[in-house]
Amino acid sequence: MGQDGMQPRPSQPERGVTMRPAMDLSTEILRADRGGIARAAALLAQGALVAFPTETVYGLGGDAQNGTAVADIFATKGRPSFNPLIIHVADSDAAQQFVIWNDTAEVLTAAYWPGPLTIVLPLRDGHGLSSLVTAGLSTVAVRVPAHPAATALLREFGGPVAAPSANPSGKISPTTAAHVAAGLSGRIAAILDEGPCAVGLESTIIGLDGPATLLRAGGIPSEAVEQALGHPLAQAPEGITAPGQLVSHYAPDAPMRLNAREVRGDEVMLGFGASAGDMTLSASGNLHEAAARLFDMLHMLNAYKRPIAVAPIPETGLGRAINDRLRRAAAPRQA
Ligand code: TXA
Ligand code: MG
Repeated sequence: MGQDGMQPRPSQPERGVTMRPAMDLSTEILRADRGGIARAAALLAQGALVAFPTETVYGLGGDAQNGTAVADIFATKGRPSFNPLIIHVADSDAAQQFVIWNDTAEVLTAAYWPGPLTIVLPLRDGHGLSSLVTAGLSTVAVRVPAHPAATALLREFGGPVAAPSANPSGKISPTTAAHVAAGLSGRIAAILDEGPCAVGLESTIIGLDGPATLLRAGGIPSEAVEQALGHPLAQAPEGITAPGQLVSHYAPDAPMRLNAREVRGDEVMLGFGASAGDMTLSASGNLHEAAARLFDMLHMLNAYKRPIAVAPIPETGLGRAINDRLRRAAAPRQA
């Protein structure tokens, strides 16, 4: 078990099975002056969410080492599934605290960091990231944004910030603070307002855990990446737009049975709420806590090498994303 949010944050009431209502926070609008950056960093350190500008789009930032904050990102966006998120850091040295670096990473980041390039590399031991950030994968996506306000915030906070685009799921990515406010005002602690984003398109994602592979087209044309590399990029497998979603990345070795009301035969049981199980996603039935623990629990269950039963999880709020991931984990295995 990592240091994922095993407890709900003290500053937040337990939210149980419902999503947070739209208007229970008054969202602070901060400028990127010294006071605004300090305030934004302090809020991140408390586990609160802060939207901030990058050169691509505004990001919805949360402490990547705080499982509850990361669960809150998914809840706030209303994401119906758990994609792995990108961690944002101030510079290459900071990035190398979390990933196992290689020569290709050195070449590409020398050419394009800071800037709209995200690279995916294997996790380094002791990274301390929430397993919800990586969606339980052994790799993580990392990026050093070029926007001065983002750099200032990341330096002041001093840790990795998970940040998908700061819009409700399914809506258009925000390139101004006003876009962010229109979608998320009242749901997040603060917005760092520094005008429109220059690039307006998410970062290009290159997988470097193996031959350099284009995982998402974005702010840097793939031709430019190939020029820096000196050879063509490999293409991601057909139809895979969010590679972290590959079923085979998550499936435990043993069969998995969902909505289980009792243990059958040799099963090990994952509980929730009143259903205790052999281990539980959340004894109090808190979906934020369950989300923060989900991938650690799947790894632990896998170690038993026994069939797995999972108690019912309510199909509300973060429960939808938890159930989506569990259905993928329980799906017939890909060849
Ligand atoms: O421009 C951007 O990159 C913006 C700004 C805010 O920085 N951020 C952004 O983050 O687009 P996000 O978290 O929405 O991007 C997540 C995507 C996933 O859907 C997946 O495609 C890829 O990054 N990704 C993350 N972790 C991965 C991993 N371990 N392996 C493969 N792909 C991964
Ligand atoms: Mg997005």
